[in-house]
Amino acid sequence: MDGSSLRTLFSEEKIQKRIREMGTQIDADYPGGTLHLVCILKGACFFMADLARSIERDVVVDFMGISSYGRGKTTSGAVKLTKDLDTAIEGADVLLVEDIVDTGVTITYLVNVLEQRKPKSIRIATLLDKPSRRLRPVKVAYVGFEIPDEFVVGYGLDYAERYRNLRDVCVLQGPQVA
Ligand code: PRP
Repeated sequence: MDGSSLRTLFSEEKIQKRIREMGTQIDADYPGGTLHLVCILKGACFFMADLARSIERDVVVDFMGISSYGRGKTTSGAVKLTKDLDTAIEGADVLLVEDIVDTGVTITYLVNVLEQRKPKSIRIATLLDKPSRRLRPVKVAYVGFEIPDEFVVGYGLDYAERYRNLRDVCVLQGPQVA
């Protein structure tokens, strides 16, 4: 026991219902063609898997590795590309898939990198949005849930690599969470 506790913020049912709604919206917004889904590792892979299956049009799935937080809970401000895409995105409709947009530093860096490859469009889909923490202005096209400034884990989100496999999104409280 480390004295920490979890409080459910969004249940599995609520998350899955919201993702189905997001998929329907995305299908309606893109009139045709293939949508290029780019998952930002590692946290977003759970959301990506469910979102991709809620979209009915053709999709390509690809992955980018980004490291910005290290093992702790606060950002270092440094963004490092740890894995690049396997596929070209020139002329493609790209949807960046994130688990959370917090300060906006990571997604701003990624959008800048990918825009240089001349996609037809780039939009952002995130399960969670914490706008009160923003350091960079970010236009997020699809938001699952807006959340207050609390430390959340589960459904892909970690604290020092723990909790990613929780089915719910939970607030982590305890001595180690300042
Ligand atoms: C998290 C999250 C985003 C980023 C958001 O990733 O998945 O990529 O932080 O924070 P920001 O808006 O303040 O930049 P993290 O670096 O924790 O990596 P992980 O997904 O592998 O846990």
